[in-house]
Amino acid sequence: MIRAIEWVDAGADSHIRLIDQTLLPAEETFLEVGEVAQLIDAIQRLAVRGAPALGAAGGYGVALALLEGSRSGWSAEEVDAAIASIANARPTAVNLAWGAGRAGRFRAEGFERVLAEAHAIAAEDERANRELSRLGADWLLDRIGHRPLRAITHCNTGALATAAWGTAYGILHELHDRGMLELVYADETRPLLQGTRLTSWELHRDGIPHLVQVDGAASSTILRGLVDFAVIGADRITADGDTANKVGSVALALACQRRGIPFVVAAPHSTVDPGTATGDLIEIEERGDEEVLAFGGVTVATPGVRAFNPAFDVTPHDLISAIVTERGVVEPGSQPQPLFRADSETVA
Ligand code: MRU
Repeated sequence: MIRAIEWVDAGADSHIRLIDQTLLPAEETFLEVGEVAQLIDAIQRLAVRGAPALGAAGGYGVALALLEGSRSGWSAEEVDAAIASIANARPTAVNLAWGAGRAGRFRAEGFERVLAEAHAIAAEDERANRELSRLGADWLLDRIGHRPLRAITHCNTGALATAAWGTAYGILHELHDRGMLELVYADETRPLLQGTRLTSWELHRDGIPHLVQVDGAASSTILRGLVDFAVIGADRITADGDTANKVGSVALALACQRRGIPFVVAAPHSTVDPGTATGDLIEIEERGDEEVLAFGGVTVATPGVRAFNPAFDVTPHDLISAIVTERGVVEPGSQPQPLFRADSETVA
């Protein structure tokens, strides 16, 4: 299985290894990231991306900051500032600040303790993803029927987006392994094409039958009855279950409600942010105009035209049939609010 992010032990030259997701699938190039500024750049360019992978990047980023700090003679304040800039490199996925906060709590105990915590974040993510995949597959088969299912998904939620295995993608993988997945419609996911470039690459490697479709086809694919359910990942799930995910997700939810088929959100519990009450309080990252106005690096819009480029949207909880984490399946329509409460493990 591909590892999107790993820690490489090399004494004073220890560093983070990332597969550069901006180059996939054309090139499988690894980035050796030894400095905080390089890590922030990789996060902002989406060389490493996906909420759970960003959680691991936050954890390993703290270890990197301690190493670079001792190499470069940083003061404690400078180390703190470096950790804060990693935590804030992208605003919407709660896992990034959560991972940096969780590992950062141990910085007074030194590098080895911080690194152990970062490894724990990554290991727990893989365990969580495998467990939520089993729970999600069980729920879907019980709800829809024990037969090979047709799915639609958006963005990339596979091994590339996590420490390992995947979330929404993990459920698809689990169904496939059980012989219960007929076909996946993978949305291309404009403007950075995580679906066409990354999800399709993973589906192909895993031998899962799929078709890539333009984002604009998604609601019609659902309304025409071509799929049995939709499953997406999450960047942040609020206390009431409202969910931020890659822009375009809410269109799937609306169409699923109209068609009367399940719309499922899958994420490790580290993506739950009980400190944010509702979806309208989530900060939505807005990215550069050129991502929308150019195609293949060439500007295709009329010069001078501006873009609106929100990277995420929010699906209200009443459009979500089930939120699947490793702790269980929550059905927002049938469970009392708030769905999620703060506890010591989930507060960043
Ligand atoms: O901008 P990205 O590629 O980081 O957005 C990723 C998504 O929206 C994913 O669906 C989400 O982070 C869940 S990944 C398991």
